Amino acid sequence: MRKFSGLLLVWMVTLGAMSHGYAQKGNQNQQREISIIPLPLSLQQQAGSFQLTPKTTIYVDPHDAELKLLAGMLVDQLNSVAGYKVPVEEKAGAHKKKNAIVLTKKQGVDSLGKEGYSLVVKPENIVLQAPEGGGIFYGLQSIYQLLPTQAEGSGSKGSISIPAVTILDKPRYSWRGMMLDVGRYFYPVDFIKKFIDYMAMHKLNTFHWHLTEDHGWRMEVKKHPRLTQIGAFRKGTQVNGPNQIDYRPHGGFYTHEQIRDVVAYAAARYVNVVPEIDMPGHTLAVLVAYPELSCTGGPFEMPLQWGIQDEILCAGNEKTYTVMTDVLSEVADLFPSPIVHIGGDEAPKKRWKACGKCQARIKSENLKDEHELQSYFITRMENFLLTKNKKIIGWDEIMEGGLAPNASVMSWRGIRGGIAAAKQGHDVVMSPTDFLYLDYYQNYAPLEPKAIGGLLTLERVYKYEPTPAELTPQEAKHIIGTQGNVWAEYIHSPEKVEYFAYPRGAALAEVAWTKPTLKNWDNFKKRLEKQYERYEDMGINYSRSAYNVLPRVAVNEKEKQATVTLETFYHEPVIYYTVDGSEPTLESLKYTVPFLVKDPSVIKAAGFRDGKRIGEVTVRHISDKDLKK
Ligand code: ACM
Ligand code: ZN
Repeated sequence: MRKFSGLLLVWMVTLGAMSHGYAQKGNQNQQREISIIPLPLSLQQQAGSFQLTPKTTIYVDPHDAELKLLAGMLVDQLNSVAGYKVPVEEKAGAHKKKNAIVLTKKQGVDSLGKEGYSLVVKPENIVLQAPEGGGIFYGLQSIYQLLPTQAEGSGSKGSISIPAVTILDKPRYSWRGMMLDVGRYFYPVDFIKKFIDYMAMHKLNTFHWHLTEDHGWRMEVKKHPRLTQIGAFRKGTQVNGPNQIDYRPHGGFYTHEQIRDVVAYAAARYVNVVPEIDMPGHTLAVLVAYPELSCTGGPFEMPLQWGIQDEILCAGNEKTYTVMTDVLSEVADLFPSPIVHIGGDEAPKKRWKACGKCQARIKSENLKDEHELQSYFITRMENFLLTKNKKIIGWDEIMEGGLAPNASVMSWRGIRGGIAAAKQGHDVVMSPTDFLYLDYYQNYAPLEPKAIGGLLTLERVYKYEPTPAELTPQEAKHIIGTQGNVWAEYIHSPEKVEYFAYPRGAALAEVAWTKPTLKNWDNFKKRLEKQYERYEDMGINYSRSAYNVLPRVAVNEKEKQATVTLETFYHEPVIYYTVDGSEPTLESLKYTVPFLVKDPSVIKAAGFRDGKRIGEVTVRHISDKDLKK
């Protein structure tokens, strides 16, 4: 740590007393409130602001192509807000220039690491310093959040004011991920890029691309073309409950060229793309294309219903290993990521138990059972990828039968797997279903689009703590990050992905980036109001269900009565409700504390702001049966 050490200390000491995101009192007229998500490590708003004008110049260090690219992004972003393009110049030591925005890697604070940055906005100039390009990129994301939204009057073509502020920032975790399931439902490249854009603006840096599934294989494999010719298409999609198939042909895959394009697009936004090739389960699409890789020989058809398939790759057949290493060889060529996801989840062992080849392999390799056979399978894949200088990560099932020596674990069935792996010295990404499965309902289901089930509110995501308290400091170092997963069983359009991913993705971003002692749910909800405006400016189909009321009903069987709790997830909520079936208005009962219901009732409740209803009306029937009468 160089230049900022003394100052940093002062900031750290004052952090506890600081109230992030609130404007200083008394100058509300000139200064917009600062509202950055995820919340920076330290942030202090000062009096005054920088005025962006057509005469403002961006200065970058000479001979730094990366900084020039980053400056180009800033020019475009400022243009979209101000309506003019400011010039970029190469110049060393420009930090004293007036009416300037300086992007520099010089005199950056080394302790901020690969992704940290310092950003000082003064009336004279803006200086963004970081040791590396990633930090500059994240500093730019913070600058974007200092710009006015359209609701605040951007697009005026005049001077744009940027509030004076001093920020020192760096992330908590190195793996800040989002997964998109393109196997169950195919989304085009244009949307994949948008998905990456949205991640990047939230300072998320790892795009886990779930490329293969029972229901669709999405990566072109030159050596085995039937994987996509056959495995990427199906006759229909289950759109609701069992047997509700739309019988509309669905499919698609990404060519090598498209994959390279996406990887480069992501890299320019400091997002690493981690491809997942799921094995040995979730591979029915492979077996439809190449039935000889199954235990039974097939034939098979592309599945139309959701659910775990018994058919998995035969682990006793040498050809399975040849095909899968061929696939991984093309993966290694296409993806610069130092880590590849090999799946490993939900592989029923039924076929292996009945398969002569699998049983023979268990014997010849001195394995105890089918779990050890899976471990043998995964370890072979690990060994192959190590020859390509890549490590593996897998879902927590890869621990059953023994963890491959260098594997990292993605803990999804709760956190036990992640804890056990960290204790064994393996790196872990926490992605437990009950906190981070973004395909779950985010609020009261009757008001939500069809989801796979579960309830995962914005607040629950926000309050998630990825590093379990029971780990020692040494073990805790193995929790390298956290990730939200968007599975696609019932998410059949880009718009619906956006709806499920945001704003919960903003909560995830703060879990992954922000120091836990700085997190504050009320303050986050306040900042989210500004984030919604940004989403609107960008055309993201984010969910507004945080404005809806979630009823929770606890029945006391003995007393034959119920306690009703009403919750919302927006800033400064005001809830009105009725118990007689009438529409809630400002004249209805105002909700302050949980209330008792002793007779069958229809509860209707809604959130209000400024005298107007802001969300949908929640309707909750409480019947005799509910009350155990
Ligand atoms: C998973 O949700 N099957 C990893
Ligand atoms: Zn077999």
